[in-house]
Amino acid sequence: MGSGTGEFKMSITQLDGPEAPARTEAVGAGDDRARKVTFQTLGEKKRLREPITALTAYDYPTARLVDESGIDLILVGDSLGMVVLGYDSTLPVTLEEMLHHVKAVRRGTRRALLVADMPFGSYETDPAEGVRNALRLVKEGGAEAVKMEGGAARVELTRRLTDAQIPVVAHLGLTPQAVHRMGGYRVQARTLSAAEALLADALALEAAGAMAVVLEGVPREVAERVTRSLEAPVIGIGAGPGCDGQILVIHDVLGLSFGLPSKFGRRYADAGALVREAVGEFARQVRGGAFPTDAESYHLNAATRAAFSEVTSDADEDGTP
Ligand code: KIV
Repeated sequence: MGSGTGEFKMSITQLDGPEAPARTEAVGAGDDRARKVTFQTLGEKKRLREPITALTAYDYPTARLVDESGIDLILVGDSLGMVVLGYDSTLPVTLEEMLHHVKAVRRGTRRALLVADMPFGSYETDPAEGVRNALRLVKEGGAEAVKMEGGAARVELTRRLTDAQIPVVAHLGLTPQAVHRMGGYRVQARTLSAAEALLADALALEAAGAMAVVLEGVPREVAERVTRSLEAPVIGIGAGPGCDGQILVIHDVLGLSFGLPSKFGRRYADAGALVREAVGEFARQVRGGAFPTDAESYHLNAATRAAFSEVTSDADEDGTP
């Protein structure tokens, strides 16, 4: 995209601009990372004991970078509410907000399996409404599956979504939408009865059609047992190394989140420091006159410059400002 002269190009257009590498170049055509990931791919990885990689993304550039890095699954999580929208829990996130971000992530995702969270309030009351809302995330948003929090209470909806050809990812253990019931963000399934109940929920959801399970904030022994008991891939977050794969929130990975780090939220970069440094330097340069330079400015051609100068100096003589 450009102006009439084709000279002007905004940075927001550059990812798809003519100079951008073809997307198959970022992930080579013969490379295993170039193949579209499906639930069958995840199942195969589980059988081969090849760890599944998953991250969240909420916007187009992040989705592109994560996708082109070869991550298997991208989740547009309702963590959106906390890490992007600044809410203090995931509870206020609406279906419209989810759709807005799922569409952006869809545009940036080619290879990874794209899963969208069902936000709080969009599926608990009436299964028919749950199906309608999930359909929107798939039909309008372009998600390939939906994720729902909860155990036995989600069995019926999981069955109905599966019947409607919408793959379901179940989310068990620490389910942030249940923050008030749990009394905070607490590790779950620590007692024998709770661990047994979690395993029973996982098996029931798999029997109802769930194609993968996210296990959050549970003791590693429980996660290992659930992972061994299910055919469906189990993707852990704060559930230890024994799961079939791991998922983290991208803002935690990049050092872009503001809360206290969790025990498991390993930070792989400090993008927050990079942003502060770059923004500070920009402000210093603007204030000091070092940005922009002449080389970063557009110019009139010589003839127009001369004519313009003449016209404006006439205007000055006339007293016109
Ligand atoms: O909303 C989210 O990001 C999630 C992951 C933490 C699994 O549910």
